[in-house]
Amino acid sequence: MTAARPRETAGTPPPTAVRPVLTGIGSWLPPDVLTNHDLERRLGTDDAWIHSRTGIRRRHLAAPGTTTSDLAVEAGRRALKSAEEPTADAVVLATTTPDRSCPATAPQVAARLGLSGVPAFDVAAVCSGFLYGLATAGGLLATGSACRVLLIAAETFSTLIDPADRSTAVIFADGAGAVVLRAGTDGEPGAFGPVVLGSDGDLAGLIEVPAGERYLRMQGRATFRQAVERMATTSRTAVAAAGWRLTDIDRLAAHQANTRILHALADELGLPPGHRLSNIEHVGNTAAASIPLLLDHTSADGRLRPGHRLVLTAFGAGLTWGATTLRWPDLPVPRDTP
Ligand code: UT7
Repeated sequence: MTAARPRETAGTPPPTAVRPVLTGIGSWLPPDVLTNHDLERRLGTDDAWIHSRTGIRRRHLAAPGTTTSDLAVEAGRRALKSAEEPTADAVVLATTTPDRSCPATAPQVAARLGLSGVPAFDVAAVCSGFLYGLATAGGLLATGSACRVLLIAAETFSTLIDPADRSTAVIFADGAGAVVLRAGTDGEPGAFGPVVLGSDGDLAGLIEVPAGERYLRMQGRATFRQAVERMATTSRTAVAAAGWRLTDIDRLAAHQANTRILHALADELGLPPGHRLSNIEHVGNTAAASIPLLLDHTSADGRLRPGHRLVLTAFGAGLTWGATTLRWPDLPVPRDTP
């Protein structure tokens, strides 16, 4: 009899496994802001409903004509500037809203950043995109295909949103975050732990752009329940795979889907309220960009500090999900405050 295969891909890493180490970070939000009050009349909703059900008060939207690559370049430039060595020999772009369906957006982003010639490609895993991109970048480092990877997560997610759908128009927004990664080892400041990933295509219909249609449709309540359950389970797996315990965790950096999801997840993991990192109030749900934006904002304002042990987790359409751990580094180069 064959043993049941694990549902998620963590694997047992060899003791000398190469780890991606974070050496730079940056983010960018397009300047146009849409407040809850702006949505009230159009959607028959109000600020109190949106804030109490989602935690969101405002979000940033890309102006017409501004593309995902525009946001990605801004975030990528800031991440490179903050890195100990402001260069990269591979670019991975996590996005579900590429500039066009063919070719990938990453080569153009690389070229605009002065990195023409390096390998560059897109990764599409919707709100889990940053963690899928991280695992991919870690593979490039581990195989020697790259020494420094610029991982950018950027979305103009508002282009998928029906402006008349109040269950999605109040939540989703635009933005970009980026990190520079080098190869390192376990336990170094800035080293990520094993990245645990999973998917369930049988439930794709919960949150999808139906074939032939233009806009995202979401079954909110069922998605909510899946998000809490999947992020809790995968976080536990990632913490154990890193050789940590949940009591070691200082900060929870979860995909900013909904404040109530973040509270339920932290409760499920037994993490106290002060451990939850959040910026959803000001940025909404920026899909793949959510986690790097969160890390950039909260490290800049001091809620996330060098030495903190983090669990990072995300959940999104696909369904896809993932988690990993990280010891926050003391980034040596001062960076642009987001
Ligand atoms: O990014 C990863 C994937 N996404 C998520 O994780 C999002 C998960 N889901 C959610 O965040 C929540 O389900 C929503 C915020 C989308 C909706 O909140 P909810 O508490 O689950 O509300 P609901 O969809 O069950 O709707 C409850 C009521 C409905 O009215 P009736 O049928 O009870 O009369 C909706 O029509 O709230 C109504 N409603 C609204 N009312 C005012 C839905 N959206 C709005 C709105 N303003 N914006």
